[in-house]
Formats: sequence, C-alpha cells, structure tokens
Amino acid sequence: MEPDQLKDLYEFDEHGDLQKDIRELRKRGPAPLVALRGGIPARAVVDPTLLKTLARDKRVSKDAYEHWPAYRNKELPKNWPLMPWVAGKHAFAAEDSKKSKNHTRLRAPLDQALGPRQVRAMEPRIQEITRTALDEVARAGIDPVTGHPQVVDLRLILTLAVPIRVISDLLGIPDHLREAFQACADNLFDTTISGEEMLANQARLQQTLDALIAYRTEHPGEDLTSTLLREEHHDLTYEERLATIRLILVAAIETVGNLQGSTIVNLLSHPEALTAFQAGEITIDAAINETLRRNGPAGGVPLRYPTETFAVTVDTENGPVEVVFEYGVPILPVWAAAGRDPRTNPEPDVFDVNRTNRRDIAFGAGPHYCAGAQLAVTLTRILLALLFERYPRMMLAVDPATIGHTPGHIGDGPDTVPVLLGPENPDKTSSNGHGAKTRKPAKRAARSSMGARRG
Ligand code: HEM
Repeated sequence: MEPDQLKDLYEFDEHGDLQKDIRELRKRGPAPLVALRGGIPARAVVDPTLLKTLARDKRVSKDAYEHWPAYRNKELPKNWPLMPWVAGKHAFAAEDSKKSKNHTRLRAPLDQALGPRQVRAMEPRIQEITRTALDEVARAGIDPVTGHPQVVDLRLILTLAVPIRVISDLLGIPDHLREAFQACADNLFDTTISGEEMLANQARLQQTLDALIAYRTEHPGEDLTSTLLREEHHDLTYEERLATIRLILVAAIETVGNLQGSTIVNLLSHPEALTAFQAGEITIDAAINETLRRNGPAGGVPLRYPTETFAVTVDTENGPVEVVFEYGVPILPVWAAAGRDPRTNPEPDVFDVNRTNRRDIAFGAGPHYCAGAQLAVTLTRILLALLFERYPRMMLAVDPATIGHTPGHIGDGPDTVPVLLGPENPDKTSSNGHGAKTRKPAKRAARSSMGARRG
C-alpha cells in the first residue's frame, strides 16, 4: 500500500453512533480505508451490492492464517483488542477450499442445533425465561422504599438477560457456571477495551469453557456442548469444539440484545407504529424487520482477507468507481450500512413499519450467513409480544436522542433502555400467570422474510 494512502485513514468514533460513522464513510466511497484499533488499515465496505458480492467472492477469505500475512507472521501485538475476532478454529473464521471443506465441517453442528425445527422446539422455554425476566423487571420498576414507580433500564435485566439464559440452556451451562458465563459475555463486542482487559476476558472465558466441557463430559445432556462432545462430531478437534462454543457465546448475546433494545426504543419513540402493533394492524415482525434495516445490530464485523490483489467496479451515484482490494489489507464488512443506503431504501433514517421493498443484510450474506438468524428473530418476537402485552402503556423515560450507543464498531444498539413501565395489564402479569400469550407468529410470513434475507 502506498504511504500516501495511509495518511488520511478514517477512524471510528468508538463511543458514538455507528450510523454517523457510516454516513461519513459513504462520503468517501463504497469501500474507504479506515484505521482499526492500533492504526491497522482496513477497507470498510459500506456499499450494499459490494457487500453482497464480496461475501461470495472466492478471492476473499475469512481465514487469517492463510491470507493475512501480518497475522501469520505474528506481526500483530498479542493483545490487539480485535485479536479474538481474527483467531479462532470455528466456522466464522474458516473457509472451504480445494484442500478442505473446513467451513462446511465446522458449520454443520451449528446448522443442526439452530435449524427451524430446533428453534420452534425452544419456543416454550424462551417464553418461560422471558416471563421470569419480566417478573424481575416488574420488581425493578418499583422503588422498594417508597413503593412508587421508578425508571427501569431494560438492557441488563431483560434484553441481555434473556439471550444469556437462552444461550446458556442451548449450551447446557450448569447452574454453578452461569454467573461466570454471564461475566464472560460482558465486553465481547467492545473494541474500545484495552489489550490487557481483552486478554483477561479471554483467559476467564477459556477457564469457564474448560469447566463446561469437563462438566458435560461427566454429565452429558441434550445440549449443544454434549452434542459436540459425542462421537458423531469427532471430526472436530477439542480446540474446534471449544472454539465453536465460544463462537455461539460471542455471536448470540450482544447482537440479540442490540436488536431487542433498538426495537423497543424505535416502537416507544414512534407511537403510531406502537399503536398499529397493539391494534393488530401490523405484526411484530414489521417492527423487527424495520429495526434490522435501520439499526443493524451487527455493525462492522471483523474481518475478511483478499487472497490476491484485485479490482472491482462499483456503480455509485457519481458513476462507476473502481475499488482495489490489496493483498494484505483486511476487509471490514459494515453490514449495518446496507439498510441505510439511500439508493436502496429511500429516506433511510426514517423508521417506517409500512415500508415496502425494504432491503438490508443485517444477518450477512453468502456461506457465512448468520447461523442463528431464526433464533434471534424468535427471541425478539417473543420478548416484544410479552413485554408490550404486560405493559401496554410503557414509555421511554428519556428523550430517545439522548440514549447512547454500545461502544465499538462491531455491534450497534442502545447502551441503555430506560423506561417507565406504567400499569400492568392485569391479565398478563406473573411468570406463572396465564394469559401473556404471544401472538401466534405468522410462520409463513416470518419464514419467507427470513428466506428473503438469506441471499
Ligand atoms: C440480531 C441478532 C444477530 C445478528 C444481527 C447477527 C448477525 C450476523 C452476521 C452479520 C453474521 C455474518 C458475519 C460475517 O460474515 O462476517 C453472523 C454470523 C454468525 N452468527 Fe449471527 N447474528 C445474530 C444473532 C445470532 C445468534 C442468536 C446466533 C447463535 C445462536 C448467531 C450465530 C452466528 C454464527 C455461528 C455465525 C457464523 C456463521 C458462519 O461463519 O458460517 N448469531 N451473524
């Protein structure tokens, strides 16, 4: 890369609104150069067509060892905060090649565990977990001293707590390790933490994973960890099994928390959409899909690597532009940019649940398309239905414009969801109460919308 090109690298405002960064990046072209933490240059892809093309391009790989010389030659500091996203013997960082079907092999157990039938079977348990978390929300909404209503931040006790518990079930995490797992889930997407914090997090995670594997070797169950340990998956090494479990933890919690948090904030700050949902004029999927488009929960997810230097011509509003992807310069796909592209979604900043021809790639594209998309939407559908049934008059406790964003560029969601719950719907109260049924999801519509996403 020419020294001149390294002069003006864009730097993310790691504590700001990712969509603001995306607007700035778009002004610089379809795939401008950015400086990742530590000043490492990368091409951040913000053009939706280019994102989809690169996700399937055989000249682009996710295998850092094979195709990123700086990584292979150990030129990156061990404590580089993005290191956990680069190194890993799991599907996320593997590719099929002429030599091996590594990605297919590592992805197979995930597709088995997270397929449509498996996710449908999880629904009763997700409802139970969500109702229990809502009981905790109810308690937090009352000042214990005065007995008066008080502001509740839904992020920790609901929108992160529910996915943590559901994923803990999925992975078969026993009760005595749940607290340790919850602690590990903090900070996973935070690219602003120091190298030392990152290394400490990873060491804690490793210890907890070892304890989980030891427990499930002794006490096998029907969970994903036990399944991975069983014979049919002996084509995965111990390291690969561990990495696969770690991948689920990293991929599933913060992303879902972001989607749930953003959908709640969007609905509460757009009363016409909330009223339409509560009157049954729109399904909850309309609000979820519009949030996926407008507030992509997985923002700029590291990383891909050109296997050679190549050029792509991109059609932009200013005419064709040639982008050169240089060997050795990683690619950062900014999935959250696609839904806000003004050429594919007119008035992209507007939250409009009645939008037609909505286009986004919030769950990625190509062979690495999100393995947990169906579970993520199911979790969100159930949570929103139960929350708004129980608290039909809930309000945001602050001006939505003052709500901050989760740190780092990997994910994007509200860093708090402060609400006043308002009166409970008397028919939909406690976790063992009756009522609180979720609207029967329009399965066909939901499936076809997921199908349309996969592209
Ligand atoms: C709203 C929530 C979610 C969003 C927006 C999301 C988004 C994404 C995106 C964009 C990718 C592709 C990354 C790339 O190609 O670089 C991805 C991959 C992945 N996601 Fe999700 N995800 C979500 C929830 C989940 C959940 C709940 C799980 C698991 C339970 C999960 C598991 C995975 C896995 C295993 C991969 C790697 C797939 C592969 O490389 O073959 N995700 N996700």
